[in-house]
Parts: sequence; structure tokens; C-alpha cells
Amino acid sequence: MLSDKQKTGYERDGFLVLEDFVDTGTCSRLIDRANRLVEEFDPGAEGVASIFSTTEQTRTSDRYFLESGDRVSFFFEEEAFDERGELRQAKELSINKIGHALHDLDPVFEAFSHSARLGEVAHGIGMVDPVLLQSMYIFKQPNIGGEVVCHTDHTFLWTDPLSVTGFWFALEDATIENGCLYALPGGHRLPARKRFVRTGDDSTDFEVFDPEDYPLDGIVPLEVPAGTLVVLHGLLPHLSGPNRSPRSRHAYTLHAVERGAEYPADNWLQRAESLPARGFAA
Ligand code: FE2
Repeated sequence: MLSDKQKTGYERDGFLVLEDFVDTGTCSRLIDRANRLVEEFDPGAEGVASIFSTTEQTRTSDRYFLESGDRVSFFFEEEAFDERGELRQAKELSINKIGHALHDLDPVFEAFSHSARLGEVAHGIGMVDPVLLQSMYIFKQPNIGGEVVCHTDHTFLWTDPLSVTGFWFALEDATIENGCLYALPGGHRLPARKRFVRTGDDSTDFEVFDPEDYPLDGIVPLEVPAGTLVVLHGLLPHLSGPNRSPRSRHAYTLHAVERGAEYPADNWLQRAESLPARGFAA
């Protein structure tokens, strides 16, 4: 599946861009499915406060987040609410993402995520026995799509030894205007600077090893057409800008870890024993 040049490029840069990995029909199918899930999502029924301004509500949303590791949960864009805490626009234009177990719980995303073809890519970049831990459908809504600040995925999905690898699929064209990814070539050789930990049922914190921000000079935009897969090393600093354009930028991401790596009990993402992380189809 991967050429030697691609493998060498991944080792050198910490990321790999594979255009045309997903065909147009599949992109549309995933987009339609995500839109349908949002249509069916009833914030009231799920106990998700539509107003996030008070401490109590922040706690509620933190708990909702911490319980989402083995669920299909919905998260709003920060700018979705007005000063009174009410949605500025329709629900469909207000959701930031769906996470974090779509790949196991939704049949459409399940079939796509566990494909043998993606498994070949994971093995191609050196994974031995990868399992899919996490999935996110990211809308990056027109005008209000929030930025994602520079981070490494290892900070959030820590394993010992490091193993998390990101698979980021552009379902729509991603450009500087609508908030594409940016990555720091070779930045995966920098040591981990912090670790995100769960400190209670509704609280989290960062364990900081190095308070310095990642150097942003040298970071490059990854403008890619719909259908592109970007593979991201767990220590690669990356970010995405806000979307101030009138066009959405839908993407789907998966994070895989090695089955044999130690997975700390205080990682934010925990899954019920009844839903163990699974690998790719043979
Ligand atoms: Fe990330």
C-alpha cells in the first residue's frame, strides 16, 4: 500500500498525505450520515445544557465530555451561543464535533473505520497490532468553526510506549480559508511537553513537563482536496485555524494505539470493558 518513499517521508516529517484515499461516494455517505446523526440529536433529551455560561453547566459539559469515550456524543462550537447562552443559529450549523466511539457504535462509520485498506496503511507506517481507540467527526462550521490550538495527540491519548497515530480524512476540500490542518515537519522528534489527565468524574488537568509553546515558525498548511487521508505521528505538533469562510470543512479522524502498549487509567478517554477497542478487518 505504501511506497518506500512514502514510508521514508513519514519517518522524516512525522506526517504523510495520501490524496484520493477515499472516493467521492464514500465522502458523501459519511457526510450524509453525520448530518443525519445531528438531525436526530436532541440536546434536551441527552441532558446537554444548551447554555454553557455558569460553573455548574461547565461541570456538566466536562462530565459529558469525560463520559463520551464509548458513546456517540455531540459538542457545540464555542461561538454557537449568544450572550444569553442561546444558540445563534440552527443546531445543524452549531455542532463542532461528534465523538468518540462512532467507529464502533455507528454502522456506517464502523464499516469505514475498520477497513483492511486502512489497516494496511497503519501497518505500512510501522504499527504492529493497532486498535482503534477514538473517532471524531469534525464539522468546522462556516463562519464560526473554532480553531484547534497546537498540540500533539500523545498528550491526549498517552500510551507507554508512545503509540497513538492519527488518521485524518478530508471529506470536503480543506483550505487555509476554511481551517485546514497545519503541521510542523520533523516536529515529532521533539519530546512530549504535557499530558492531559483525568482528575475526577468531571475534572481534568495538564501534567506539564515543559511549559514552552511549540515553535510555530516552520509550520506548514496542509491544504488538501476531499478524499485525502493525512496520517499523523503521535508526537507531531499540529493545529487547525478557525473557519471564517462561508464554506464548511468536514473531516473525520481516527486514533489508533498499539494493543500491547500500556494505557493509563487516568487518561481522559476510558471505554467500558464491554466495548474493547478493536483492530482492522483482516
Ligand atoms: Fe490532534
